[in-house]
Amino acid sequence: MQFRHALNECCDYPKEKRRKNMPVNIVSLTASEIEAVLPALAELRVRVFRDWPYLYKGSLAYEQEYLARYATSPGAVVVAAFDAEDLVGAATGQPLAEEVEDFRAPFSAVGLDPDRYFYFAESVLDSAFRGRGAGHAFFDRREAHARALGFDRAAFCAVIRNDDDPRKPADYRPLDPFWKKRGYRPVSGLTVGFDWPDIGETQHSRKQLQVWAREGLGKQT
Ligand SMILES: CC(C)(COP(=O)(O)OP(=O)(O)OC[C@H]1O[C@@H](n2cnc3c(N)ncnc32)[C@H](O)[C@@H]1OP(=O)(O)O)[C@@H](O)C(=O)NCCC(=O)NCCS
Repeated sequence: MQFRHALNECCDYPKEKRRKNMPVNIVSLTASEIEAVLPALAELRVRVFRDWPYLYKGSLAYEQEYLARYATSPGAVVVAAFDAEDLVGAATGQPLAEEVEDFRAPFSAVGLDPDRYFYFAESVLDSAFRGRGAGHAFFDRREAHARALGFDRAAFCAVIRNDDDPRKPADYRPLDPFWKKRGYRPVSGLTVGFDWPDIGETQHSRKQLQVWAREGLGKQT
């Protein structure tokens, strides 16, 4: 399989060292390397996004169709996290110009040129592998990829939920402080609407996603 090939080429992670406290192996996949990880990424997205704040009731059929675009987008990157040969996390991105119109149009509406932004889509990591630096690596690798393509600006979206929503787990820690430390800020007045059925819903319902952005990708935060 293509991603195993990439893993063998890029990483050394000897079997005897595979322990639960070991960092996961991070590999940046582009172009024809992407396709092989998409089925596992679809499954990960459905599993991870079930949780607050996404509460996403996804189907593998939709996921595979949604994710297929990365394999054909010339500027796309999938930063994959492996535990041995298992995909345990991934973060994706592509130039905003290659994203669907629903994501591009709100930028234009607030006077920002979508062509200047590299867009980070999902970051998903199996909960058993969190807190080992993969989240930072996902940003580092995608920012490096964006810079290599000549982008100085990056953006991503985060779903907006009411703070007093009873579905919010008592121990939930928002990622906002992490994103701010990495130099990203919510862009005032810039949200994107997206529909999905929440867990427990039978119909799609509209969510608003807050756009976060950073300029000066080449500079230290
Ligand atoms: C986002 C995600 C991939 C990050 O993975 P991770 O393993 O936690 O990443 P890291 O170990 O690099 O930690 C990144 C930062 O997250 C924060 N963090 C760690 N554990 C956390 C937790 N349980 N809750 C909230 N933030 C946490 C820390 O502030 C850390 O930064 P630090 O350097 O200041 O300590 C992972 O948390 C995840 O899959 N979350 C669910 C999906 C999601 O919300 N994705 C983002 C929107 S698409």
